[in-house]
Amino acid sequence: MRIRPRRNRKSAAVRDLVQEHQVQAHDLIFPLFLLENSTGKVEVDSMPGIFRLGIDNMLREIEACLNVGVRAFDVFPVVEEKYKDKMATRSYDENFFYLSAIRRIKKEFPSVCLMSDVAMDPYSTDGHDGIVGESGEILNDETLEVLGKMAVAQAHAGVDIVGPSDMMDGRIGFIRDRLDSEGFKNTSIMSYTAKYASAYYGPFRDALDSAPKSGDKKTYQMNPANQREALIEAQLDMEEGADILMVKPALAYLDVIKLLKDNFDLPVAAYNVSGEYSMLTAAAQLGWLDREAVIYEQLLAMKRAGADIILTYFAREFAEFMHR
Ligand code: PBG
Repeated sequence: MRIRPRRNRKSAAVRDLVQEHQVQAHDLIFPLFLLENSTGKVEVDSMPGIFRLGIDNMLREIEACLNVGVRAFDVFPVVEEKYKDKMATRSYDENFFYLSAIRRIKKEFPSVCLMSDVAMDPYSTDGHDGIVGESGEILNDETLEVLGKMAVAQAHAGVDIVGPSDMMDGRIGFIRDRLDSEGFKNTSIMSYTAKYASAYYGPFRDALDSAPKSGDKKTYQMNPANQREALIEAQLDMEEGADILMVKPALAYLDVIKLLKDNFDLPVAAYNVSGEYSMLTAAAQLGWLDREAVIYEQLLAMKRAGADIILTYFAREFAEFMHR
């Protein structure tokens, strides 16, 4: 045998030399859940180890992350029912605790990259990403107006990257125009390009108490059976001015990550969603899986599929154990 692939695996030093993909702390974005009560800290039942934090605790969390090289954060507000309404008006209220917290974080840590979701669900009494019409349908074009206001308010507060997660048609171009006309031409857009109607978002909806009050999200989020449809979404997002394309969820959609990576020159992000966190956490708690090893292997799989960026609830933990 002249060809022996095992030669490239013979020692750790050789394996490291020929290793194709890496996961680094600076590739990761850590999603954080923000409470109104500044000193609050409440664990998410379905995501053991993940806490909803008030701003005081969140600032400490961010500092700990920076110390291990995680520099990007995606902040989601936990909005009490009394603040919700049909048109999600708190989503662009600059005095609301969410936008105050964004300003505070940028003031304390100017070097962090802050991302923010653009969608109505956390602020809406209907729990949908868009406006719900008379007969229960989600009104696309009317919703764009709300999303535009939300994105501009977030940019104004200091967000570096807005993340439209709503899946309305035409939203990237609409938001780009609104940001530009308000002078926010350097605010980036990471589009939730291929966002599937997935049951893996369950724990996230528990964390934010943002589940839809009626119906499901299948008229706007994509059908998990479809791959080619992701190309249509990606083409539109690119033409409308997206800076980064995202695929969500990640693990069950590695083929879609690869598809976008092969067909577009924009950076590709993968959202390692709440349900993926919970599954692994549960199996590790039962002693059935090696938590750290599987976290690494899963993040590596997303990289191998083509993700440049990974949004993951494991960000801090991964960076900590890589740091040891
Ligand atoms: C809001 C939004 C969701 C997630 C990110 N932004 C939930 C949904 O669309 O229902 C899910 C994130 C996760 O599960 O970790 N539009």
